Amino acid sequence: MTQFLLNQQPVAIDNLDPDLTVLDWLRLGQRRTGTKEGCATGDCGACTVVLGSLEAGELRYRSANACLLRVAQLAGKQLLTVEDLAEDGALHPLQTALSCGHASQCGFCTPGITMSAFALCHSGESASRETLIDHLGGNLCRCTGYRPIIDAVQPLLGQRVQDGHAARAPETAARLAAMQPDSGEPGRTLLPDSAAALADCLLRYPDAGLLAGGTDLTLDAARAGRRHQRIVALQNVDELRQLRRDGDRLEIGAAVTLTDLRHALRETIPSFSEMLSRFASRQVRNIGTLGGNLASASPVGDCAPALLALDARLRLRRGEVLREIPLAEFYTGYRQTRLEPGEFISHILLDEVSRAPNLRLWKVSKRRDDDISTVFAALNIHHEDGIIRRARIAFGGMVATPARARRCEAALVGQPLDAATFAAAGAALEADFSPLSDVRASAGYRRQVAKNLLRRYGLLLAGCAELEVTDYGR
Ligand SMILES: Cc1cc2nc3c(=O)[nH]c(=O)nc-3n(C[C@H](O)[C@H](O)[C@H](O)COP(=O)(O)OP(=O)(O)OC[C@H]3O[C@@H](n4cnc5c(N)ncnc54)[C@H](O)[C@@H]3O)c2cc1C
Ligand code: FES
Ligand code: FES
Repeated sequence: MTQFLLNQQPVAIDNLDPDLTVLDWLRLGQRRTGTKEGCATGDCGACTVVLGSLEAGELRYRSANACLLRVAQLAGKQLLTVEDLAEDGALHPLQTALSCGHASQCGFCTPGITMSAFALCHSGESASRETLIDHLGGNLCRCTGYRPIIDAVQPLLGQRVQDGHAARAPETAARLAAMQPDSGEPGRTLLPDSAAALADCLLRYPDAGLLAGGTDLTLDAARAGRRHQRIVALQNVDELRQLRRDGDRLEIGAAVTLTDLRHALRETIPSFSEMLSRFASRQVRNIGTLGGNLASASPVGDCAPALLALDARLRLRRGEVLREIPLAEFYTGYRQTRLEPGEFISHILLDEVSRAPNLRLWKVSKRRDDDISTVFAALNIHHEDGIIRRARIAFGGMVATPARARRCEAALVGQPLDAATFAAAGAALEADFSPLSDVRASAGYRRQVAKNLLRRYGLLLAGCAELEVTDYGR
């Protein structure tokens, strides 16, 4: 039985269809039609809802796309939709602000924008315009324009909104804490609560869909019209949701969300944290995980090239058997990995995290916010006395898998840190990849952009500080 709170109302669903999305359940089952369906692919934000969950004993609210979320992922959480904001016949302060600020024309995006802003107002995050823009990056408004929306919401930031949800937070937290841990439906949706139980489930059902955040899995299944006989979800496996630092070593659980990773790496690997501000949208980062991003094996996945430049290793588990492999050996072809049936990524391991001061992660895409990479460059050079001692250069978006540019790296190591070296490395880079041509860009564009990014990196290391990208940190 899957149990959660719909606002304050307890919900328990038996024999849950593992493919049922929160959007369909809300609109078709509950007739809560305030949550809109725009794209059904996670791109427009019209379906944004808010999930309340207990994190270290505290109630935290995060936005999510209902079209990408399965009902099984609600287990043990509180679901809030736009219908839950107005109380006792009075609009929520956010709704009043949007209405009085003329921040809605056709209104189709408005419920989603309201829920994204609600999550921000309850987060205690900084009151800056940049933070607000970051929260709204996954909400598409095609007619009002963003200025009135931002102007309407901004005055409410900075202090936690005093509404009924804030007043009831202790009560809500107590009700979530009292909820029975959910082990899912024995038949169709399994929610193991430890890594050992997860390993056991996957051995028993190697054909089951392994669900982390579902931002790829749910979308791919919907696009292919594929239904799952069985889902194994890893949301209750605490071991996989932790990030541990031991000296210079970092061990990241595969189910750590991209939002938590961005926060955790702010001090340790700032360039990685900054790059994640350009990964999808808040809604996607709030539920999408690092392990899911790597296992998807997308040629344009952003975390793989970044981690290749950091020499990451993966800890894989199948049953009782653990093995570690370098990420550089994980991908075997387009959307292919070395994972065996029944095997999963347990942790992502980084050594020497403090030795990446020159790491730069540059994403080139058509839009700044909520867009997939056309080319992603991960550049990490260590130099001493003007000589390059070590080079890790990796790219996404160039070929069928994220990959290191080995010839380029070889052309850099042992050479002086100067323009001639980077020119030679650029020529070597041409031999590393035969780039793909697709709707995003031609092979020629990708080749040129990759070489330009390498050249820019060389100039930056040589002292041209004005070439530093500074707009990531919002
Ligand atoms: C609107 C939108 C924008 C996006 N933008 C970006 C972007 O800018 N950059 C980018 O890189 N990606 C982007 N993505 C892709 C996606 O969000 C990421 O790949 C995400 O990190 C996937 O993680 P998940 O937890 O949702 O994985 P899921 O969808 O749950 O899983 C993805 C795949 O990995 C498998 N899997 C999950 N966890 C494990 C594990 N621990 N071990 C083994 N296999 C596992 C699943 O079985 C499935 O096959 C975007 C997606 C959407 C919908
Ligand atoms: S309907 Fe567009 S993001 Fe969900
Ligand atoms: S008000 Fe029409 S899409 Fe935003």
